[in-house]
Amino acid sequence: MSQPLLSSRPPSNTRALAAAVAAAREAGELMKKNLSRAKQVNESHQHDIKLELDVQCQKLITRALATVFPSIPVLGEEGIDAASEKAVARWVVDPIDGTVNFAYGIPHAAVSIALEVRTEDGFKSEVGVVYDPFMDDLWTAIRGKPARLNGRITQVSTRARLDESIVSLGFAKNQDSLQAAQADFLELTHRVRKLRIMGSAALALTYVACGRFDAYVEAGVRLWDIAAGGLIVECAGGSFVTHSLPGEHRYGLIASNGLIHDQIPHARTTGAKLKSPSPKGKSQTRTRSKSQTQS
Ligand code: IPD
Ligand code: CA
Repeated sequence: MSQPLLSSRPPSNTRALAAAVAAAREAGELMKKNLSRAKQVNESHQHDIKLELDVQCQKLITRALATVFPSIPVLGEEGIDAASEKAVARWVVDPIDGTVNFAYGIPHAAVSIALEVRTEDGFKSEVGVVYDPFMDDLWTAIRGKPARLNGRITQVSTRARLDESIVSLGFAKNQDSLQAAQADFLELTHRVRKLRIMGSAALALTYVACGRFDAYVEAGVRLWDIAAGGLIVECAGGSFVTHSLPGEHRYGLIASNGLIHDQIPHARTTGAKLKSPSPKGKSQTRTRSKSQTQS
């Protein structure tokens, strides 16, 4: 059923969530079918791979979302609709987050879809969906409501000590962020219970949201990696702290259960402020979400 979007009005969050879930599940099916098959590589760099399946999944997601909301543009890893900069609302899509894992047949990758709505301070995620097709784990969030994992309310961990925490690090693609990640590794490795480097930013965030990880730190992610997962962390009661970096839609981030944020050395050394991603680097202060107490 299609609902043309009036240019001055964002869509209903509930309908947007249903559309995003359906699109994520459809793309997830394609990922599952192809995990162990030979895949067409479109681009190969030292620390990154781009697959034809990334493109196919984004096309499939774009088509599925457009069936319900034909006028909402997509800002995605595999292509950005120019209308997305000026729109009232836009989808932010990472069709396969964890492409290198997926390319090597490692079943740790996800589909990430957020609905962002324009505010006076820039775009803000209102709806977030992250789907791991290999575990059949679906995380969802609507701003102001509790985050859910497979339909059940989910919350961040209650661990308050860094030395008992599992902290996930992201090793990104370019030299700057790789160097920052190495420094974070050296700084954190002796202070935490364990570091984990799993290769999907969206899943690292949702693992924080459901208490599997206590924090996630990465020095150079893109908006599509984090737009859905960041909202899910906040709606699960955690903190999602970003700072804009040079380059379009680039951020450094610390996501955590909120309790250990100040113990993470990275937070002190970068002087990261509580900010939410916005297209022009204008940001808004965010604190620990109270949404887990609402329904
Ligand atoms: C990457 C993954 C990885 C993170 C990188 C991302 P991609 O996304 O999320 O874990 O460290 O910063 O770019 O390329 O697999 O979609
Ligand atoms: Ca990604």
